[in-house]
Amino acid sequence: MMLSDIKSEVNIELRKVFKDKKGDEVIIRNYNHQNDREKLIDMYFSFTPENRCLGLPPSSKESIEYWIDHLAKNGLSIVAEFNSRIIGHTAIVPTEDGNADLTIFVHQDFQNRGIGQELLKNIIEVAKKLNFRGITLVTEINNKRAIHIYKKFGFRVVKPYYEYDMYLSLRS
Ligand SMILES: CC(C)(COP(=O)(O)OP(=O)(O)OC[C@H]1O[C@@H](n2cnc3c(N)ncnc32)[C@H](O)[C@@H]1OP(=O)(O)O)[C@@H](O)C(=O)NCCC(=O)NCCS
Repeated sequence: MMLSDIKSEVNIELRKVFKDKKGDEVIIRNYNHQNDREKLIDMYFSFTPENRCLGLPPSSKESIEYWIDHLAKNGLSIVAEFNSRIIGHTAIVPTEDGNADLTIFVHQDFQNRGIGQELLKNIIEVAKKLNFRGITLVTEINNKRAIHIYKKFGFRVVKPYYEYDMYLSLRS
């Protein structure tokens, strides 16, 4: 079954205001590819190289567009918005074995304010509603901040090599 079929059966509408650690009000909501594509491209195009993880986001505008279109076609995204600007993004894409593969980025101007954890909390809820078996992700072994939040939400390291493969089971 395609993700688009599953999505239509479950209510995954999301729009909430989240007060970040700095006291700013950030909107957490569903991503709409038609309306938000350019804003998301802007976020990733201004991402600094030291904030990339495993080559993502891609650096050229064309590669960013290709990647975002791929995520929109095959997966589901949630964004964080502040002053009409997209400043955080998380996506899940189904894998063949019934899991969802996770991507998450918060723009460097907004990191360490709790926005990443709010995005993660909400995408886990969506993945549960969509009945995925679990969530998989890959990160870099030295990405201490990302690993900290993943572990806080219950992810376990399943392959601790140069890259960290992590997994959260959504079945009890
Ligand atoms: C990783 C990322 C998504 C986290 O989002 P964020 O909004 O910055 O994170 P939050 O503010 O919600 O949470 C950060 C947490 O990490 C902790 N932290 C920060 N730096 C840390 C470090 N060097 N080591 C361990 N923990 C650290 C903070 O204390 C906080 O935890 P706490 O709330 O328990 O105190 C974001 O920083 C980002 O996009 N980084 C660059 C790209 C990236 O790594 N993406 C993930 C790819 S796998």
